[in-house]
Amino acid sequence: MRIDVVTIFPEYLAPLDVSLVGKARAKGLLDVRLHQLRDQAHDVHRTVDDTPYGGGPGMVMKPEPWAAALDAVAPPDAGPPPRLIVPTPSGRPFTQQLAVELAAEPWLVFAPARYEGIDRRVIDEAGTRMRVDEVSIGDYVLAGGEVAVLVIVEAVARLLPGVLGNAESARDDSFAPGAMANLLEGPVYTKPAVWRDREVPSVLLSGNHGAIARWRRDQALRRTAQNRPDLLERLTPEDVDKHDRATLAALGWTERDGRFSSDGPPVAH
Ligand code: ADE
Repeated sequence: MRIDVVTIFPEYLAPLDVSLVGKARAKGLLDVRLHQLRDQAHDVHRTVDDTPYGGGPGMVMKPEPWAAALDAVAPPDAGPPPRLIVPTPSGRPFTQQLAVELAAEPWLVFAPARYEGIDRRVIDEAGTRMRVDEVSIGDYVLAGGEVAVLVIVEAVARLLPGVLGNAESARDDSFAPGAMANLLEGPVYTKPAVWRDREVPSVLLSGNHGAIARWRRDQALRRTAQNRPDLLERLTPEDVDKHDRATLAALGWTERDGRFSSDGPPVAH
């Protein structure tokens, strides 16, 4: 996969040299290219922002440098275009499902903004020749989109074939499609079996794979009830088996008309 990032802070993306993403690049699985937006601003100050039309606080990123940068990275009429990702708190939520979708793309271009954002015409014009997604990584406001690029690239890179050591690691992720979809992962343990008088749950030492799978599922239900009740509200009757129902009932969650809701006592911690 090829990834281009246009930014006024290429140094902000230094973490892309490290760890999983760095190794994916070293292995040739990921081709990341950083571009300085200011190289496309030709006045003495290499200006990339200006005051907003209509007034208001802050500055807006000028259209000309952005258009020149995007044209340089992906020349119009030069083969299949990339998919353009514009990080913004006003975008669609970034989810594991979107990460899976993006991991199937051959080429992504990221346009992280600073200030109050990019002149709208840049995004509208880009949309006439490539798919554009405005994406938010959460309901909070960062100082710029670069950290969002790091988040999205890491989530996408670990899904690329050959990047994760253990092929099964991504399969059981919280939010990954499948049987555990929409449940958070439960706790994990490693050696020693007793640490500061705390024992690893005995079922995990039992060698009984059925019992272990059941215990993990109960823990996932418990943790989801505690931390993300909104996810349990999205469960459908097909997502749960008889045991799940009993566990959910013990947590105060029951089904009515195909939907689960909490009517019981608060979950004990
Ligand atoms: N830029 C600033 N805040 C952001 C957010 N929450 N998501 C994506 N890009 C952003």
